[in-house]
Amino acid sequence: MKAGITLENAIEKIREYVSARQDILARPLYAAVKTFGCQMNAHDSEKLEAMLIQMGYNLISDEREADLALINTCCVRENAENKLYGYLGLLKGVKTRNPEMKIAVCGCMTQRNTAADTIIRNCKHVNIVFGTFNLHRFPELLLSAFESDTPIVDIWKEPDETDLAATEHRHFAKKASVNVMYGCDNFCSYCIVPYVRGRERSRPVNDILEEIKLLSACGAVEIMLLGQNVNSYGRSGRYTGGGPVSDNQTDFAGLLNRICEIDGIERIRFMTSHPRDLSDDLIETIRIQPKVCKHVHLPVQSGSSRVLNLMNRRYNRESYLELAERLKERIPGAALTTDIIVGFPGETEADFEDTLDLAERVRYAGVFTFIYSRRSGTPAAAMGEQPDAAVAARRFNRLLSIVNPIIYEENQKHIGKVLTVLAEKVSASDRSLLTGRADNNALVHFAADPACSGQFVRVKITGCKTFYLTGEKV
Ligand code: 5AD
Ligand code: SF4
Repeated sequence: MKAGITLENAIEKIREYVSARQDILARPLYAAVKTFGCQMNAHDSEKLEAMLIQMGYNLISDEREADLALINTCCVRENAENKLYGYLGLLKGVKTRNPEMKIAVCGCMTQRNTAADTIIRNCKHVNIVFGTFNLHRFPELLLSAFESDTPIVDIWKEPDETDLAATEHRHFAKKASVNVMYGCDNFCSYCIVPYVRGRERSRPVNDILEEIKLLSACGAVEIMLLGQNVNSYGRSGRYTGGGPVSDNQTDFAGLLNRICEIDGIERIRFMTSHPRDLSDDLIETIRIQPKVCKHVHLPVQSGSSRVLNLMNRRYNRESYLELAERLKERIPGAALTTDIIVGFPGETEADFEDTLDLAERVRYAGVFTFIYSRRSGTPAAAMGEQPDAAVAARRFNRLLSIVNPIIYEENQKHIGKVLTVLAEKVSASDRSLLTGRADNNALVHFAADPACSGQFVRVKITGCKTFYLTGEKV
């Protein structure tokens, strides 16, 4: 990195380069961003895309046409890492046809042990590798890559105080994601996230409110608040300083109440909630605030107290069931969704039966199911008895065969109701339908004029499948 180059300088210099190159080629320069992983990564990609636009690039989805490809990686499970290498293989062919192309890799995977060096060593066509703590340095790194042929690797061990500026660029203009906190301190024994995203840091209340006001002013009506563990918002972190509760510091329920006061914002969602930290205050806030969506994503991971203990989740089967019950009782119509891992080290058939039983009792509206993936460096990776792949696959299929029919039955309960749906886009599979989400997060495909896109539409639910509801505009 060059001393004395500021972010603005770097952006300006790349603009000049992009403009000169466009003149030579007599066409725009294109950038394609590929994102693996969670909503946090998708939101980081939005911010990186905003920088690319500022630098003069045109965004495209087809990487075969790209002059710059940026890959935002995930490492939560092994198959996400394998996907990166598959994708880099594809880009190698693209770069052979366009040798001026720049390829950059960032995100969670690059923060792992020696992953950045491995990528550079094995993939000579990659120009830049950077991490999760220095996204804001992307323009400077890109400038260095333009000025030198040597690959640039810049991975920080710790975050600094820099928060990426709020951006108007979003994947869907009406919906915006906002980070309320970064990192995670929970150290669930299977999970790599605390090692690659660092310690938990809550953003100051006022920064969050200002960002949401700006988003509202440029058209957003729905806000998704993002954090690995939003319920512990305000309890930790360099950004809040851990001092006394002040105007600029509150807990998550307090934050939601403040966001509800912002004009123009009609819906507020949040994820992810840790079952250990979900307070009664928060349940009450979800119950009484009309803008807060009646949907809680509450990852259970396992229904066996013994496995939960090994996972270091710090709640047990009984306390989870009690919490799920309380949520359903206090918030009528609340939809609960969850994450479940099967095949955790030492999981017995009896433990797995406990998971099935818990899922049957809670009756989730949606379940993300995963086969345990061994992540080196995590405590679970060193636990004996790594599960047999065939056993894990059988449990995975059995779990789906239990949860999917319940999801379908729960969906059927909506038939005949009128739900308010934020219409997002024309359905990819049927051009006569629009698609969007109801307050309870249900996906709805419905017949309406495409001009309704971006609006809240009252939809009468007439049918359902396992993964969506169908209906028509009333
Ligand atoms: N193996 C399988 N699933 C995992 N998850 C996190 N780490 C692993 C792992 N090592 C799942 C958890 C988490 C979701 C985001 O990913 O269910 O809630
Ligand atoms: Fe991983 Fe647990 Fe933190 Fe979620 S709460 S990111 S599963 S360590």
